[in-house]
Amino acid sequence: MIDTLLITGGAGFIGANFVRHVLARSDARLVIIDKLTYAGNPANIDDVLKNPRVRFVKADIADRDAMISIFDENKPASVVNFAAESHVDRSIDDPSPFIETNIVGAFTLLEVSRGYLAKSDENARRDFRFLHVSTDEVYGSLPRTGVFRDDTLLAKLSLRGVEGFGGSPGSRLV
Ligand SMILES: NC(=O)c1ccc[n+]([C@@H]2O[C@H](COP(=O)([O-])OP(=O)(O)OC[C@H]3O[C@@H](n4cnc5c(N)ncnc54)[C@H](O)[C@@H]3O)[C@@H](O)[C@H]2O)c1
Repeated sequence: MIDTLLITGGAGFIGANFVRHVLARSDARLVIIDKLTYAGNPANIDDVLKNPRVRFVKADIADRDAMISIFDENKPASVVNFAAESHVDRSIDDPSPFIETNIVGAFTLLEVSRGYLAKSDENARRDFRFLHVSTDEVYGSLPRTGVFRDDTLLAKLSLRGVEGFGGSPGSRLV
């Protein structure tokens, strides 16, 4: 059976490239969800939308009813969450969309995934993955060399870092 991947934020910078990567390297069907904020550019995925394996839905990940319908209609094997307010400077000017998408939206997606898995069979539950794409800002700044690891201590955070972290631990619970 061909799997369906649900990719949120697929019209953004990383999401659009990830969509192309998956199309080129798998047979998966892709359902792209994007609210098309100022950061989402449909032109990023114009070519991709011609592919019969791709479906695009304009929707907000914080809209629980819309997410439930999308899950029920498409029965995703996994979710990759790129949908985010991603620009730190904007979070200083107006934090509210960051709270709405990066915390409430990520939580909504996790809760909808949990409800969907409760209705799914054992194999689907075992194989399901929820990949939440966060930000290295949760760890602060690197010196000139080195890498962050999963067990690196969290740094004093910018608001973007706090929200990035907000979605991350929950994604381990699904
Ligand atoms: N770009 C980078 O260099 C980089 C580095 C590290 C981590 N990240 C993280 O990767 C993720 C994606 O980054 P990006 O650069 O592609 O961001 P981006 O701002 O280019 O794209 C975000 C996408 O999410 C969509 N979106 C925003 N709110 C939404 C909502 N409520 N519902 C549905 N869609 C919504 C936007 O329309 C846009 O298409 C973010 O969490 C970001 O912090 C990015």
